[in-house]
Amino acid sequence: MQKIQTVGGRRLEGDVRLSGSKNACLAILAATVLPQKGRTVLTNVPRISDVLTLLALLRHLGIPADFTEPGVVSIDASSPTSYEAPYELIKMMRASFSVLGPLLARFGQARVALPGGCDIGARPVDYHLKGLERLGATTTVEHGFVHAVAPNGLRGAGIYLDFPSVGATTHLMSAAALADGITTISNAAEEPDVVATANILNRMGAKIRGAGTKEIVIEGVEALHGTEFRVDADRIEAGTFAVAAAITGGDLYIRDAVKEHVQPVTRKLAEAGVEVRFDDDGVRVRVPHGVALKAVNISASPHPGFPTDMQPPFAALMTLALGTSVITETVYERRFRYIDELSRMGADIKAEASAAIICGVPRLTGAPVAGSDLRATAALVLAGLAAEGRTDISGIQFLDRGYEGFETKLRAVGANIQRVDYADEIATELPLTSELSLARAAGVSA
Ligand code: UD1
Repeated sequence: MQKIQTVGGRRLEGDVRLSGSKNACLAILAATVLPQKGRTVLTNVPRISDVLTLLALLRHLGIPADFTEPGVVSIDASSPTSYEAPYELIKMMRASFSVLGPLLARFGQARVALPGGCDIGARPVDYHLKGLERLGATTTVEHGFVHAVAPNGLRGAGIYLDFPSVGATTHLMSAAALADGITTISNAAEEPDVVATANILNRMGAKIRGAGTKEIVIEGVEALHGTEFRVDADRIEAGTFAVAAAITGGDLYIRDAVKEHVQPVTRKLAEAGVEVRFDDDGVRVRVPHGVALKAVNISASPHPGFPTDMQPPFAALMTLALGTSVITETVYERRFRYIDELSRMGADIKAEASAAIICGVPRLTGAPVAGSDLRATAALVLAGLAAEGRTDISGIQFLDRGYEGFETKLRAVGANIQRVDYADEIATELPLTSELSLARAAGVSA
């Protein structure tokens, strides 16, 4: 087991280059099942465990898919051999479920295990299934699998989403690309990941318009072909580094950040007193000397609202702001599991219904803490960068799902942060029992 150790108090300064967007990559990789001919080549793909899991799933389906060089992934879906996605690969990540519609469009049937993912609240797939049924599929759930059948292919239909789900929007849009006739998705998610997925599908030959608005219209086509596509920078990684600059009173240039994608977060940072300057290549985030950050309220909601994935990192920042902030969550009901951990570091924070109330304190102190999901763990690392003394953060397996070279990038701009082996730490820190010492002295392995 590994964990991250930080010693807080260093001001971060310098340039950080972002990796490609995790969420866009995952939606796009699921859609790469669709093209009947030609290879798809994606560039700016982060080497993170979620991407590796989806590539393994594609290979399981008989679709050669792998990194050919750093950042470049090649996929050839011309002759898939299976329409069944096993639990072992789906349980690790909810986004894998989105191969269901594309497999259905290719094979006329598909069998995909019900998903897992970060534990941040109920994460049903009812919109996905209802949408596929609107497109003419019959779905049954048994033994932990969804079996979907559409022997005569999918046909265009009107789909209304009760909530603008990102996953359901990209999934149903992809499935509808090969449906017979016109599909309209109303109350669609407007996230940049939806736009990226529509853009690559259109390059594959699909006819999709309206992505990035509440209504997406898909005119089904007979066939799709492989293409090349560059993935935009990760807006949540950008937001995380922006908060890293803010929480350490630092000055970071975040290269490749896309203004329209990152603004829902940087606007709130600016309101708190952080200086934010965009140019053509990225954004500079700086805390002017002598400025104490002020508490601001946020409400996490679908794009273009404040992204729920940035809610835990922003809460970490607010623990050190002047005044009281109210952080409201409207997307997931259980996204406050980091509160107890921040409290252990001296934060004055409590949960009330779907909000966290944070009274800023003058300082945090390092402590052993445990991350419970990807963004909660990132929030604890950020708190650790500002806390006095050492913070040991467990839950690195979550961080590795979504951040490429997180601690390496942070170290390069001055953070005191390292990844250590947990077992080694225990062995060196805890006194050995006499038997164990004797056995070791005698060369016997315990
Ligand atoms: C995606 C992102 C995730 C982000 C989330 C919201 C990926 C890989 N992950 O997750 O980082 O936090 O968007 O911005 O892109 N819901 C239902 N039924 C459904 C589908 C969703 O009730 O069938 C609900 C969920 O429980 C949740 C809300 O809709 O409360 C939003 O979920 P959704 O947008 O689907 O999140 P994901 O696409 O899974």
